[in-house]
Amino acid sequence: MNSVRKVVIPVAGLGTRFLPASKAVPKEMLPVVDKPAVQYNVEEAASVGITDVLMVTGRNKEAIENHFDAMPELNANLAAKGDEARIALAAESENLAQIHFVRQGEALGLGHAVLCAKGHVGNEPFVVMLGDDLIDARDPVLEQMIAIREQHGGSVLCLMEVPQDQVYLYGCAAVEPADSPDVVRVTGLVEKPPPGEEPSNLIVIGRYLLDPKVFEVLERTEPGRGGEIQLTDALHELIDIDPQDGGGVHAVVFDGRRYDTGDKLSYLQANVMLALDNDELGGSFREWLKSYLSE
Ligand code: UTP
Repeated sequence: MNSVRKVVIPVAGLGTRFLPASKAVPKEMLPVVDKPAVQYNVEEAASVGITDVLMVTGRNKEAIENHFDAMPELNANLAAKGDEARIALAAESENLAQIHFVRQGEALGLGHAVLCAKGHVGNEPFVVMLGDDLIDARDPVLEQMIAIREQHGGSVLCLMEVPQDQVYLYGCAAVEPADSPDVVRVTGLVEKPPPGEEPSNLIVIGRYLLDPKVFEVLERTEPGRGGEIQLTDALHELIDIDPQDGGGVHAVVFDGRRYDTGDKLSYLQANVMLALDNDELGGSFREWLKSYLSE
């Protein structure tokens, strides 16, 4: 039985980088190969036995609720045609987890979205997954994050190395070595540092294992960069809190396959990479792509 039982997936953002596609359709519902991005997240949580999922939603996000609900009309239609294979495909998202929803009301920032989960999560550690950040199922990271928390307590982040000139686009961590080359202690965090001021080339990616202490900190976190209540600012404060009191932040340095689907170029890249590896489509897609590019 896992020491972490709950995952929070904030999906209430406005998705402005993906307009016009994200105007009425949540960006987390845009398909990556053949299923919505957010379904990959729920599958990842379920793969480590975390099946209590809370989605923080907002207006325009009903499609997400519908996607994880049963569709009797669709089933009846497919059953009439004897199409069992498609009934199974449509049902995949229904049985992965117990999915709960809470509304954010106004997109005041990721930190605020996480705070909206307080009532559901209560006083236990929980995972936060960002719906536009996909981690390849062949390179799982959650179990390692849970093991780090079991050893050190506090919160655990997931970091990735990027070229120095890309750091300004992300949250960035200052770190010092901990147990092994891929586990570090986080000593500082800064959201989108100006070029030249980055403390490292390690960026924070969309997997967090948080101590419930974060709620207390978020309640007093003022709007930061971009006028939003930033999760990074609350995490920065956790660094200096006594581990006995829920503080302390460690991180795993992840070097597996990760796909960003939150902006147009990365989304296209994610689709191509995952389509090439897809059991059903990979072979013919590869052939077509080769011949298309050689024309
Ligand atoms: P992003 O910054 O990537 O999402 O937040 P966004 O604000 O929707 O995107 P852009 O920058 O305008 O294109 C990361 C995750 O946090 C959620 C988003 O839905 C996304 O999955 N989020 C963000 C919230 O739930 N609430 C917020 O107030 C902000």
